Amino acid sequence: MSKFSAFGVEAARFCERIGIERPVLNAPMSGIVDPAFVAAVCEAGGLGVVPAADLAPEEIRRFAAEVRARTSRPFAVNLRPLQDWPLDTVKALELFDALSPLLESLDLPAVPDAYDWSGADVFPDFAAQFDAVLDVAPAAVTASFGGFREPEADRLRAAGIFSVGTATTLREAKVLRSAEVDALIVQGSEAAGERMSFEDPDDVMMGLSALLPAAVRATGLPVLAAGGVAEPRQGAALAMAGAAGCVLGTALLPTREARTTDAHKWFAAHGSAVDTVTTRLFSGRLSRVLRSALWEALAERESSSAPWPQPLVFMRALEARARELGRDDLLSLPLGQSAGRSAWNTVGEAVRAIGAGFLPESE
Ligand SMILES: Cc1cc2nc3c(=O)[nH]c(=O)nc-3n(C[C@H](O)[C@H](O)[C@H](O)COP(=O)(O)O)c2cc1C
Repeated sequence: MSKFSAFGVEAARFCERIGIERPVLNAPMSGIVDPAFVAAVCEAGGLGVVPAADLAPEEIRRFAAEVRARTSRPFAVNLRPLQDWPLDTVKALELFDALSPLLESLDLPAVPDAYDWSGADVFPDFAAQFDAVLDVAPAAVTASFGGFREPEADRLRAAGIFSVGTATTLREAKVLRSAEVDALIVQGSEAAGERMSFEDPDDVMMGLSALLPAAVRATGLPVLAAGGVAEPRQGAALAMAGAAGCVLGTALLPTREARTTDAHKWFAAHGSAVDTVTTRLFSGRLSRVLRSALWEALAERESSSAPWPQPLVFMRALEARARELGRDDLLSLPLGQSAGRSAWNTVGEAVRAIGAGFLPESE
């Protein structure tokens, strides 16, 4: 027996605590994960996650009711805790100017006055979202960009809801431990989408092999690995490194349950890490996305991107119009370094197989 023979113990403990069979969560992919997708994760024994960060309170209640109509198993809800953000309207306007001919050609307002630069319109009201989540009473709540502040953490604890924060560095993991989260997601640099950094700069870009064991040792908490996970053998390797489970994003994009464009699915199934780029252009936060024509056109402006979330003021309008027109080349499509390594046809297949990698006794 090696001194690491506790392989699988963390995963089994995590599953028992939440009442699931496989320590696998879906990434909260807004617009891609619908109630049937969440229920499919749960029915496969995993922990389905409702992507609630961009939903209005009544939409959160409706989404959760639709999940419950399909499964009686536990599920989680993801929120984006409230944050202050520095605005830089001068920089945001520079990017807006560069984009204005494109906006005009798509019949979108191309003058700055047509947009609210305060960013106030970009996200739903967090306090009302949080109340809706407490009404819904999921088994767990996951936080993008750190964890919850004390008043929210206290309400989650009082309601018996498991609280999961997200860290991208060892220091962030320690901050979340001090905030008494019940578990941590560690997001490695392999991951699709926005860096979840909240204390350290978003370009630190720790890979999972450096971040995961350090976070496990320093916090003693259940740690879930996010970034680049697509195969059962990775479940076993992550469990050996101390992970209690994992989060799957890119690997689930090619499945039939994922509601995304054909091009996005194609690159997730047949592309490679080389098709991804990291950029701040689309939201102001460093994000790993598919190398698109829009990114190629704007790449030289990378250094003048405005801070998060100001570019969303006009990027959201552009995205909505691009979707109406079927213009995938103008979308910002999150894609991780596991692109091309997912052969899963359904969410259930992926959750069962990768989850089994964590639990040596299960199959
Ligand atoms: C298409 C897509 C959309 C995503 N959207 C979100 C999101 O809205 N909020 C969030 O917290 N994370 C989001 N993520 C990132 C995941 O939470 C997670 O960090 C990442 O998917 C893990 O890496 P992987 O894609 O390599 O599995 C998204 C990921 C993908 C692939």
